[in-house]
Amino acid sequence: MTLRNGPAGYGWLTKALHWLTVLAVAAQFTVGYLMDADDSGRGRGRGRSGESGRGRGGEGSGYLDDPETLLRVHVALGLTILLLAVVRLGWRRVAGLPPWSEYLSEGQRRLAHWTERALLALLFVVPLSGLALVAAGDDDVLPLHVGAHLAFYVALAAHLFTNLRPRVLRRML
Ligand code: HEM
Ligand code: HEM
Repeated sequence: MTLRNGPAGYGWLTKALHWLTVLAVAAQFTVGYLMDADDSGRGRGRGRSGESGRGRGGEGSGYLDDPETLLRVHVALGLTILLLAVVRLGWRRVAGLPPWSEYLSEGQRRLAHWTERALLALLFVVPLSGLALVAAGDDDVLPLHVGAHLAFYVALAAHLFTNLRPRVLRRML
C-alpha cells in the first residue's frame, strides 16, 4: 500500500482522510439535527448560560438530550472537520491526484472535478458559518449555516452520482 497518490491510484493517507471525514461529517449532521430537534424554537441551545440547559420543562433528560453538551460536541466535531479539511487540502497539493477512472465519461469527469472542489470548499464554509453563528450569539446567521449544509447535500448528491458505482468506489477502498 503506497502513501502517495499515483498511477496506481489513491494512497492510504488520502483514503484514510477521506473516510475519516465522511465519519466525522455523518456524526456532525446527526448531532446538528439532534440539536435542532431538541430545540424549543427559541434560544436554539446556546447563549443560555443562565439556565441549566438540561432538557425542557424539567423532564429528566439523558446525556445526549443536554443542549449544552450537544453544542459542545457539535463545535468540537466541527473544529475537527475543519482541521481534517486543512490537512486534506495540503496533502492533495503535495500528493497530487491519480489519473481519472476509465469508467467516467468526459462529462462525468468534469462534474466529479467540480463537485470535489465544492465539497472541499464546503468543508471550510460549513464549520466557519457555524463558528459565525456561535460568535454572533443569535439566530440571524442561522440561514447561512443551514444554507451551507444544504449546499453540502447538493454537492454530495453529485459526488455519489459519479462515484457510487463499484468500479469507481473501489478506487477509494
Ligand atoms: C461540517 C461541519 C458542520 C455541519 C455539517 C453542521 C451541521 C448542522 C446542522 C445539520 C444543524 C441543524 C440545523 C437546522 O436544521 O436547524 C446545525 C446547527 C447548528 N450548528 Fe452546525 N454544523 C457544522 C459545524 C458547526 C460548527 C463548527 C459550529 C460552531 C462552532 C456549529 C454551530 C451550530 C449551531 C449553534 C447550531 C444550532 C442551530 C439551531 O439553533 O438550531 N456548527 N449544524
Ligand atoms: C463527507 C462527505 C464526502 C466528502 C467531503 C468527499 C470528498 C471527496 C473528495 C474531495 C475526493 C477527491 C479525492 C481527495 O481529494 O481526497 C473524493 C473522492 C472520492 N469519493 Fe468522496 N467525499 C465524501 C463522501 C463520499 C461517499 C459517501 C462516497 C461513497 C460511498 C465517496 C466516494 C468517493 C470515491 C469513490 C472517490 C474517488 C473518485 C475517483 O475515482 O477519483 N465519497 N471524495
